[in-house]
Amino acid sequence: MKTHVENVEYHDPVLCETKHIFAQIPQEPSLERRAYLKQVIPQLLKKNEALLVAHYYVHPDVQDLAESTGGVVADSLEMARFGAKTEQSTLIVAGVRFMGETAKILSPHKTILMPSLEADCSLDLGCPSDAFRSFREQYPHHTVVVYANTSAAVKAQADWVVTSGCALEIVNHLKNSGQKILWAPDQHLGAYIQEKTKADMVLWMGSCIVHDEFKAIELDLLKQQYPTWKVLVHPESPREVIQLADYVGSTSGMIREAKRVQAQGYIVATDKGLLHQLKKAVPEAQWIPAPTAGESATCKSCAHCPWMAMNELENLYALLQNPAAAQSIQVNHSLILQAQLPIQRMLDFTANRIQSTALGIGPA
Ligand code: 13P
Ligand code: SF4
Repeated sequence: MKTHVENVEYHDPVLCETKHIFAQIPQEPSLERRAYLKQVIPQLLKKNEALLVAHYYVHPDVQDLAESTGGVVADSLEMARFGAKTEQSTLIVAGVRFMGETAKILSPHKTILMPSLEADCSLDLGCPSDAFRSFREQYPHHTVVVYANTSAAVKAQADWVVTSGCALEIVNHLKNSGQKILWAPDQHLGAYIQEKTKADMVLWMGSCIVHDEFKAIELDLLKQQYPTWKVLVHPESPREVIQLADYVGSTSGMIREAKRVQAQGYIVATDKGLLHQLKKAVPEAQWIPAPTAGESATCKSCAHCPWMAMNELENLYALLQNPAAAQSIQVNHSLILQAQLPIQRMLDFTANRIQSTALGIGPA
């Protein structure tokens, strides 16, 4: 089947303008202050009847608080699912903006707060809704599949929303029912899925500034140094990096795989925030983040998302002290109605599957 991979021209505000983001990352509190915050935040969550829903990439302290207070630490698919099924009327989403918006779309009556409303995502920023509309209009007969890392305005234009935890499975299902697919915005995940499913796909050429920095040559050298270790790769990474993987999958998929394999050591190509849960899952194993520095490095990446890093104890505390004064996530009512449909399709599709086969994307 013919594959159509298209380079889309768009104004990319991200790659050279992320410096200011690093300036907004809160400073690590002192040990005493940290201990105080960890003790008082659970009380404030209780007082405000709020639940903390955290992504695996945020600060380990915030992850631990989410787990210990009845909330959840999860990948973007499980965050969405968890937020929608809980009773609490206030959710604190520790992650990036699209995760807060997804929570609002699924639970419009709930108050959705975030430690920082400035926490964005390069995939979301690199796929503006007007430019996406023009792109989409060129392919009126394609089924529109968008990654969760997009704005509500882009999701509202989709037939399906997917996350890395279910994208391969859903595209495969669409391909088997004879559909051509318009995919946005992550080019690497799109190309990976195309290669695996042989679906007829047009791709929006966005990328994640964190995963895009992993370097294949250096990873290969590292593999040679640790021949018995396993390489876990998130599919937002470049193709050459994916090709070196023993396992390619979402954040939760990597945790499951590490537990299943029980290797002596792992090299991990994703945001280093995930190492916190990986180390808990297999405490006796050794861990090395995949290399990001190399001859072709465009910046000094530290394998950590600058926007995820905006979620810290200090701003979580400030938010909980006075939630009424905090800006909540707002999504236009008609966008909510339009975006609910493709997100709900994903939730329904993935509701009853057998986890071990469905979530992990498997070896490259
Ligand atoms: P997951 O869907 O695997 O949680 O990934 C979200 C993300 O932002 C990856 O960079
Ligand atoms: Fe977006 Fe990449 Fe950050 Fe994930 S790690 S939120 S894809 S910029």
